[in-house]
Amino acid sequence: MAREKVVLAYSGGLDTSCCIKWLQTERDLDVITLVANVGQETDDLDFVREKALRSGAVESLVADVREEFVNDFLSHEIAANGMYENKYPLLSALSRPVIVKHLVEAAHRYGATYIAHGCTGKGNDQVRFEVGVQALDPTLKVIAPVREWDLYTRPQEIAFAQANGIEVGATKKAPYSIDDNLWGRAIECGVLEDPWNEPPADIWKTTAEIADAPEEPETVVVGFEGGMPCAIDGERMSALDVIEKLNVIAGRNGYGRLDVIENRMVGVKSRECYELPGGLAIITAHKALEDLCLERELLHTKLHLEHKWSELVYQGLWYSPLKMALDAFMQSTQGLVTGDVRLRFHKGTCTVTGSRSKYSLYDKSLATYDEGDTFDRDSAAGFIYQWGMPSRVWAAQRLSTGNQGQI
Ligand code: ARG
Repeated sequence: MAREKVVLAYSGGLDTSCCIKWLQTERDLDVITLVANVGQETDDLDFVREKALRSGAVESLVADVREEFVNDFLSHEIAANGMYENKYPLLSALSRPVIVKHLVEAAHRYGATYIAHGCTGKGNDQVRFEVGVQALDPTLKVIAPVREWDLYTRPQEIAFAQANGIEVGATKKAPYSIDDNLWGRAIECGVLEDPWNEPPADIWKTTAEIADAPEEPETVVVGFEGGMPCAIDGERMSALDVIEKLNVIAGRNGYGRLDVIENRMVGVKSRECYELPGGLAIITAHKALEDLCLERELLHTKLHLEHKWSELVYQGLWYSPLKMALDAFMQSTQGLVTGDVRLRFHKGTCTVTGSRSKYSLYDKSLATYDEGDTFDRDSAAGFIYQWGMPSRVWAAQRLSTGNQGQI
């Protein structure tokens, strides 16, 4: 009888290479590996593809999902100005759903009954993979070898790899755990596990040290159409190109680093550093344009919902009814978020220095304190009389009963 098949999310690293062997020997499965190119630093995906085959995979797939990642995933992130706990622009949480989508598609194509991933039992990514798979196809079963096997230490894992003919590469443990994609990089572990330790300079790759950044500020105009970035300094380009160009410009000016303590789903606080010069610049510019173009009540409600959206995405609920409904809301607000925002980068800062839109709701004749004022100031007294009524009634009542200031 033919063996059942499993599609494994593969990275080329030691963990997922050991997963191939473990799934074969412990679970008696044929392993199909899938690497998604989400713009991570590993540029040699051919090598990764062949390494999977050398490690025992029956099929090794590489999917270039960069455009899809930008158009179907980062587009929602940008629309929602997604920031978990108001600080983390969700970069790993955004790549998982696109990887899951391709894992499920591959499982269907190859008739696999299982999906496997190499995440540990302590992080958020295991939840994102598994809940994502369940939401896209609840009949698929998920295996998490790293959570199940008894290779507790690095030497045990290396011994397992060597005994099974898996290339181990440099046996020195990497000093950090890094996850990256074209939206940015996430760095944790090692000396960062003590929140008092300043992040060492060698964790940063795409942003300059402030001391090394140019003395002169650099100004860039980012163009948006329907809420998506579409131009730099008037030159039209794809959103992917805008992200990549801004990564370079913002990065060389030392802008785009974050160092945060965040609350993981499993209840643990963790210290994580992030580097996303282009992504942070885009969200800064996008928010500025929304300030200009969105009506007040819509903007205020959107700010609340952005918080909820970010929480759902962080918590692995990308493919969930509420998240999808919130996407529809966000999308409905973006149609006329079209215009330009001028950003000035200087020594680790990014400042909005101007914004304009043909759909701007800013009305100079209403706002001005100079000539040409069209605002009807006589109406203000009546407005204040009405608006202050509840406060006045309350204050008078409490005063008359000797309860001044009492709620
Ligand atoms: N804490 C972030 C998240 O859960 C990033 C995790 C990425 N992993 C890493 N090895 N740095 O989304």
